[in-house]
Amino acid sequence: MQTKYIGMIFGKKRNISGQYLKFFFRWPLALVLLFSSMVLHAQDSLFKVIPEPVYAKSTGQEMDIHPESIIIYPESLSANASLLNEAIRSYTGYLLPLMMEGDHALSVKSGRKEAFNKQKLVLTMDSIKVKEKSGYQLLIQKDQISIIGHDPSGVFYGIQSLIQLLHRSSKNILSVPQGEIRDYPRFNYRGMHLDVGRHFYSVDFLKKFIDLLALYKFNIFHWHLTEDQGWRIEIKKYPRLQSVAAWRSGTIIGHKKETPHTFDGKKYGGYYTQEQIKEIVAYAGSKYVNVLPEIEMPGHALAALAAYPELGCTGGPYQTARFWGVFDDVFCAGNEEVYKFMEDVLDEVISLFPYAYVHIGGDECPKLKWKNCPKCQQRIKTEGLKDEHELQGYFMNRIERYLASKNKKAIGWDEVLEGGISKNTTIMNWRGEQSGIAAAKAGYEVIMTPENLLYLDYYQSLNKNEPVAAGNYTPLSKVYAYEPVPDALSKDEASYIKGIQAGVWTEYMSDEKHLEYMVFPRALAVSEIGWSEKGKKDYTWFLKKLRHQEALLKKKEVNYYPYFDEITADFRNGNAISISLKSTLPNAVIRYTIDGTKPSPASKLYEGPISLDHTLELNAQLFIGNHAIGRIFNQYFQHHLGLYKEITLKNTATGKYNFPANLLLNGLVGHHRFNDSQWLGFSGKDLDAVIDLGKLTEVSAIGINLLNYHWQRMWAPKQLRFMVSIDGKDFKEVYTQENFDINGINKVRARFPKEEIRYVRVIGENIGTIPKGGYGEGEKAWLMADEIIIN
Ligand code: ACM
Ligand code: ZN
Repeated sequence: MQTKYIGMIFGKKRNISGQYLKFFFRWPLALVLLFSSMVLHAQDSLFKVIPEPVYAKSTGQEMDIHPESIIIYPESLSANASLLNEAIRSYTGYLLPLMMEGDHALSVKSGRKEAFNKQKLVLTMDSIKVKEKSGYQLLIQKDQISIIGHDPSGVFYGIQSLIQLLHRSSKNILSVPQGEIRDYPRFNYRGMHLDVGRHFYSVDFLKKFIDLLALYKFNIFHWHLTEDQGWRIEIKKYPRLQSVAAWRSGTIIGHKKETPHTFDGKKYGGYYTQEQIKEIVAYAGSKYVNVLPEIEMPGHALAALAAYPELGCTGGPYQTARFWGVFDDVFCAGNEEVYKFMEDVLDEVISLFPYAYVHIGGDECPKLKWKNCPKCQQRIKTEGLKDEHELQGYFMNRIERYLASKNKKAIGWDEVLEGGISKNTTIMNWRGEQSGIAAAKAGYEVIMTPENLLYLDYYQSLNKNEPVAAGNYTPLSKVYAYEPVPDALSKDEASYIKGIQAGVWTEYMSDEKHLEYMVFPRALAVSEIGWSEKGKKDYTWFLKKLRHQEALLKKKEVNYYPYFDEITADFRNGNAISISLKSTLPNAVIRYTIDGTKPSPASKLYEGPISLDHTLELNAQLFIGNHAIGRIFNQYFQHHLGLYKEITLKNTATGKYNFPANLLLNGLVGHHRFNDSQWLGFSGKDLDAVIDLGKLTEVSAIGINLLNYHWQRMWAPKQLRFMVSIDGKDFKEVYTQENFDINGINKVRARFPKEEIRYVRVIGENIGTIPKGGYGEGEKAWLMADEIIIN
């Protein structure tokens, strides 16, 4: 840490010179260092607390907590005192004596008068001393720990920081570092979402989940209670929600992109009774976590429609969904009964959840059925609406007004902006930062929830052995790097950003262990983004703290993802491609092989970028001494004549697959998860590439990989053509193909009589629009291509 401060000061000295130089030379180095560590940085090597506190300074001494220490607290903090005591018991096996402030009688009765002279753990509240809401001061001295909260939640957060510091000393005594922490949150809303529709989790597990959220100072549990695949909240007025909508007849096996879809045939489901919901809400409340219920509408409604088919446009019959996606059957927006149903449901929801907000969904609602529904069309007419988007606006606004009449505020996913929604609605911008910016600029309160950065169902590693996940790639470092207040917002506009929230969509998290694996430790990164000031961010320090927190996660039996220090790679294109490997694990080395064998302690030591100059399979492994750490990093490299040659694309790649054209000629073959930044995607457009080999070259084979995953809207081309040319003007066709049968990577490898040519042209004709009956029918198809292989 200290070297870092020196670096910072020298850095400034070099840039600012004059004033700083004088200051630097006038004061002894030690003083400057002291000053800098107090003011510039609050990081403290002994206070490994997540999220990073505003100010933390340890003394270097330890405090041993004695068995006869006494916890003193005012009556208003008795729950907090018990929580602290339970935490201590989890280490020591015994509880400390509790004493309510000023309760002399109690101390006499319990024969603990002598306790006044003993070590104390004192909980108090003082909103003058600690000005910030939910803030606290934690002071740890030899004979006293004191936690002063602005309010009870502040005291609670002080206790959480203390819990993170508890450890057994070398003498096997429960200890904490001495020093001081002063702390308060950056954002008021620090949320974690959980989808219990796709998979169902026990009440006990939810309590454990909430415990972990509270430990890392989250204050919102967004409970996503209804889905196409299951309705999970008991609504007494509608018993078929329990007997029908809570269940599905089976669940898809594997990823939905795999076809044909296969199912396990097992009845699956469950719901939370209102008693259980009250229990969860109260439990969360005791940990200063508000529970935000979500009732999805008008889309993601299949389970409810299966129970009450009259609420859909066609009247059904419907089935609770057995696989994942966006379904065309949604609540009918023209049917008055639907609004009655929603109001009844919300009445019961409101009676169960004291939080000021109710989430009403609003995302991913296809308009297909509304277009063909007489009731919906009639509603558009009578309400003078322009189209089906405005019909959704009508739906959402009507529900928002209903909630307002019950003193509740609405939250919706960002699609609700499309149909026009009241400014009283808070927006969750799941579709990306841009929609959050747009909402804040338009004057909506926003909770930043961009899926590409904060959805924890995405892969956290590119390792081939990762369990199936939703897709994409959001490693811990990417989550941690996220800054929720975009530069594009003025100070005024930025004040509309109320906080952040991570999303846990559970299509591919069928059990609790797997859920923990996906959520932790990325949740700890989210915690720090939501609580700590922007300037506090330091990934190296965060990882150090995380390695310290592992003991606590293990103690709490959390099945967290342990490979956050694994080897990652960067590729450099130039005249040749090179791969550099790195890991964040200190004191480890990387050893590797290039013949596909498993690295051993005797394998070659990685010392710098490896040049990829022939076909090879690289395996790399972290070692500390002879001890292999984590998993093997694997990368295949395909050598061919087209490598690093000039390539021109008629249409650039689009959207999230908009990568540079030269990735098509880098020897790295994209894998079937298509999240490895190797696939170029063309939405609704053709792939049309011309490659200049630089000189006349004998060529007899051309190949390409194309993805065919109709359940991802990815369609192989209508027609693929390979052409060759000597001059780049007259092209001769050497190969054409129209059928691509494989669901997945179609490896086209064409051979033809040897030709001396300089140019190669590859045309893949996009099918354009997804045909009727296809997933996402009527939308643009993706044409996905990687490595063009020339030999
Ligand atoms: C969402 O992820 N569909 C809100
Ligand atoms: Zn309808």
